Order: sequence, then structure tokens, then C-alpha cells
Amino acid sequence: MGKILTAFALGLTASVAMAGIARAQEPIEPVRPPASINLGMVELGKKLYFDPRLSKSGFISCNSCHNLSMGGTDNIPTSIGDKWQQGPINAPTVLNSSLSVAQFWDGRAADLKAQAGGPIANPGEMAFSHTLAIGVLESIPAYVREFKQVFKKDKIDIDQVTLAIAEFEKTLVTPNSRFDQWLLGRKDALTPTELAGYTLFKDSGCVACHNGEAVGGNSFQKMGVVEAYKANDPATGRAAVTGKDADRFNYKVPTLRNVELTYPYFHDGAARTLGEAVDTMGRIQLGKKFTADENAKIVAFLKTLTGDQPSFMLPILPASTDATPRPTPFGK
Ligand code: HEC
Ligand code: HEC
Repeated sequence: MGKILTAFALGLTASVAMAGIARAQEPIEPVRPPASINLGMVELGKKLYFDPRLSKSGFISCNSCHNLSMGGTDNIPTSIGDKWQQGPINAPTVLNSSLSVAQFWDGRAADLKAQAGGPIANPGEMAFSHTLAIGVLESIPAYVREFKQVFKKDKIDIDQVTLAIAEFEKTLVTPNSRFDQWLLGRKDALTPTELAGYTLFKDSGCVACHNGEAVGGNSFQKMGVVEAYKANDPATGRAAVTGKDADRFNYKVPTLRNVELTYPYFHDGAARTLGEAVDTMGRIQLGKKFTADENAKIVAFLKTLTGDQPSFMLPILPASTDATPRPTPFGK
């Protein structure tokens, strides 16, 4: 305990003293705005993201489970899909997901475009099919015009749909968190408690896995390095993709950007609070039992990772026409 405190006090002094010059040496980088985006595609992708008519029920959109008013998540342990089906795994945030090395907890989709086709046709999520979704879009002249304007093609296809959604998702980054302001040299952006939490986060070894622009998202790591994790589900993580035994219980390290907003935590949604998640991480990943005070400091630091949330006018969706296939919310 005494030893930890000393190490922590030294770390604190050092990082305060170096804050001005140390940015290049920090394991975390500020979130940058997207480099180049196609504005027409973003506007179209935004509509598709919010359009529940891409689901069988006519009720579920991407935003149902990745609610942009709630940190890009649904804030429940596992999602609710078509006909109130219980999903198998916690919905990760879509915020900053463009920064990840791959998509999904097990990384089975290479990028956002590859990911975006999945939910529409997943029977446990939107339960539609790509053909039916295209049928709906083609029955709505305003969509037909907008797709043509953006893609210069005569027919709408699923590739255009997923490209547009992925382009919109690229804009869902959250720069300008207080922590990033501190990284960029504003020394008073963090309180001494938050800074102490960051020092603990670094000195305890959390940054071995949670680093870079997204404070995670860039590697697959074992859940339960020091002590096995008793999950609430039968998922095997990355092994489901690679078939390798060594990848059992390896998961994509989640981003900790906006983690204050993305509860509950872990792939099974089992940790209700940030304090609980930090306690579990310390124990099973690093063999460390944090005191209540240390835990509170790390939590205070993690809350400084909340950045500017995406802000835009809610898209107004073009109305269905007489020719639009009707939704089937209650089966049939
Ligand atoms: C019924 C709820 C539900 C709907 C609807 C849904 N998702 Fe998801 N989404 C999830 C869940 C659950 C996961 C995690 C699945 C996994 O990792 O196996 C996920 C994963 C993702 C990821 C990967 C994030 C990461 O960090 O790995 C992205 C991106 C994403 N969804 C975007 C979308 C888009 C775009 C749509 C609409 C086309 C959509 N989702 C519709 C529940 C949903
Ligand atoms: C060996 C790599 C590793 C280390 C070290 C590590 N983590 Fe993690 N962290 C992960 C992985 C992998 C997950 C996701 C595991 C899962 O859900 O099954 C995760 C999940 C989390 C989550 C939940 C995020 C979410 O959205 O569900 C938090 C919070 C977190 N870690 C904080 C920390 C803190 C604080 C430390 C240091 C005490 C730490 N981690 C150390 C790999 C690591």
C-alpha cells in the first residue's frame, strides 16, 4: 500500500511537471476529426442509419441499438432484436469505431463497410434481407434520386447502402474531450484527482492494452490474463474467427473513449458500473486489487475521455409510397 502510494505520488509529480512537453511520450493520442469524407454519402448514410424500414418489423434501425443520444449504445446488457429476441452479446458503441483494427468483439468484420450489411439480414437483429431492403429503398423516389446523385448508378445495390452507412459512421468520432485538451497542452483541463487516475492507469499497466487514439480498439487480448473471467455467456471470442485454441476468450480491446456513456460493460454486459469494470480489470488482467480511493481516481480519469458527441439535425426520412412493401412487425 505504502509502496503503491509512493510510486503513485512520484508518477503524479512527474506527469504534472512534464504535461507541457510530454505529449509525444503519452501512450494515448488525441482523437482527430475524420481526414476526408464524402458529404453527399454522409447525408445519405445518416438517413439509412436512422431508417427502421431496413428491418422486417419496420421498427428497428441501427440507431435502435446504437443510439446516438446515448453514446452510440443501447445501455442494456445485450440488445433486443426482431420480435423482442434477446441478443447474444453487448452492443459496442459506434462512436470512434472507424479507429478500430476490425469490427465486432471477435473482429470478424474487417471494416465498417463489411460490418454494415450484417445487422440488416441478421435474423436476431433487423431480420430483413438485402434484397427486401433494396426493394423498400427502390420504392421511394426520393431515395432513388439521392442514391443516383451520390453513386451515379442506375440501380441501388447493397454495396452502396453499406458504403454510405460506413461513410456516415466515419463522422462519429468524438474529439475535444477534456483529456485530449490536456494532451494538447491545456494543463488545467484535468483536476489533480483525474490526473492521479491517469497516472494509476499508466503505472498499473492498463495502457498495455488500452492505448492509442481510441484508448483501445487496436488489438485482441485475452479476457482473464491473471485470473479466469466467469462470463455470463458461452462466447469464445476471437477463437470463433480463427479456429485457434490460443484465441479462446480473446476479445477486441474495447475503446475507452466515452466509456462513461457506454455502460453496462464487457462483452456480456455483466459489469453495471465503471467502478465494477475497473475493479474486475485490475484483478483479472493485472492481478491488482485497487483500493476504493484508487478505483475512484481511475474512474474519474476515464470520465475525462468523454468527447464532443456527434451533433446534427435529425434526418427527415422520405415517406413510403403506395408501392413500398409494408412492414411485418408481428410475424407473418
Ligand atoms: C438489434 C440490435 C442491433 C442493431 C439493430 C444493429 N446493431 Fe450493430 N451491433 C449490435 C451488437 C450486439 C454488436 C456486437 C456483435 C458482436 O460483436 O458479435 C454490434 C456491433 C456493431 C459494430 C461493431 C462495433 C465494434 O466496436 O466492434 C458496428 C460498427 C455496428 N454494430 C454498426 C451497426 C449498423 C451500421 C447497424 C445498422 C445497419 C447496426 N449496427 C444495427 C447490435 C445491433
Ligand atoms: C491484457 C489487456 C488488458 C489490460 C491490461 C486491461 N484491459 Fe481493460 N479490457 C481488455 C479487454 C480484452 C476488454 C474486453 C473484455 C470483454 O468484454 O470480454 C477490456 C474491457 C475494459 C473495460 C470495459 C469497456 C467496455 O466498453 O465494455 C474497461 C472500463 C476497461 N477495460 C478498463 C481497464 C482498466 C482501468 C485497466 C487497468 C486496471 C485495464 N482495462 C486493463 C483488455 C485489457
